[in-house]
Amino acid sequence: MAENDLIAVTGASGFSGKYITTRLLAMGKRVKSLTGHPERPSPFGDRVSAVPFNFDKPEELTKSLEGATVLFNTYWIRFAYKDMTFERAVENSRALIRAAKDAGVRRIVHVSIANPSDDSPLPYYKGKADVERAIRESGLSYAILRPTVLFGPEDILINNIAFFLRKYPAFIVPGNGEYGMQPIFVEDFADILVGAAQTDENMVADAAGPETFTFNELLRLIREIVRCRARVVHLNAGLAVALVKLLGTFVGDVVLTDNEVKGLMANLLVSHEEPKGRVRLGDWLREHAETVGTEYHSELARHYR
Ligand SMILES: NC(=O)c1ccc[n+]([C@@H]2O[C@H](COP(=O)([O-])OP(=O)(O)OC[C@H]3O[C@@H](n4cnc5c(N)ncnc54)[C@H](OP(=O)(O)O)[C@@H]3O)[C@@H](O)[C@H]2O)c1
Repeated sequence: MAENDLIAVTGASGFSGKYITTRLLAMGKRVKSLTGHPERPSPFGDRVSAVPFNFDKPEELTKSLEGATVLFNTYWIRFAYKDMTFERAVENSRALIRAAKDAGVRRIVHVSIANPSDDSPLPYYKGKADVERAIRESGLSYAILRPTVLFGPEDILINNIAFFLRKYPAFIVPGNGEYGMQPIFVEDFADILVGAAQTDENMVADAAGPETFTFNELLRLIREIVRCRARVVHLNAGLAVALVKLLGTFVGDVVLTDNEVKGLMANLLVSHEEPKGRVRLGDWLREHAETVGTEYHSELARHYR
């Protein structure tokens, strides 16, 4: 990337997008955000322009990518909700890839997920595999990075575990809790992504943190750090999901879906490659012990309101 290049980032003010954009601006790049919420105030003020996704208007979408040398693509959905389905998210991703090609973008740095699979019964993982294939077949130069689960100040999963542990006397765990998680720090992840934009070589790699926890170990760590005494209750997955759904009505959110529990229990949040992240979750949690989980982070508020 030459200095002063224009770089397109989906969701430049979003969770991972914000850390990618911070690095790009520090390198002297110009950044344009493609987003579902161009009207929202940006943490970057007028240093980053924002345009709507326009997935259903290919010419507009292509126009918004013209002049960009690299596209950082973080776009995806966590679960199907109302008229937003995984099939639609795949179609939108295909439209974005086609537009990048038509606009003359040189390279796409794409955020996927650890363990995507064409054969997965889980639409998140199957959809991610479909999008990866569309990128590999696009003719664009590509870097596909597959994170496990991200942590950082704006993350949802680790923060909300801490929130429920702080707020309620009991915490429900689906199944035996012996399945794994290998969280990567969002700043490490952004470094990996920005580094991957610097070459032309096609690459596909996992991005995982330095430690793997069982879910039980993760809960013990968070309980100890936020100093709470919530009891941990193991229930069969179906019952746990039903109760967590009920909990969602109290916080006005989709807290955890059946498919997410299946992915977790199938150990899909663990990488089988050498870890690339350096920051340890425990160290980060200790530094943020006073704030982590003090407020609920809502997926629906972030994307649907
Ligand atoms: N967060 C994690 O722990 C984690 C773990 C593994 C993989 N990933 C992958 O990492 C990527 C980035 O994750 P992130 O947490 O940084 O995401 P994010 O900032 O919440 O969202 C990334 C982009 O996707 C758009 N988006 C998200 N949900 C949407 C919805 N329901 N409808 C329409 N647009 C939606 C956002 O739109 P706006 O610009 O309008 O906000 C934004 O442009 C995703 O591809 C995700 O699959 C994340």
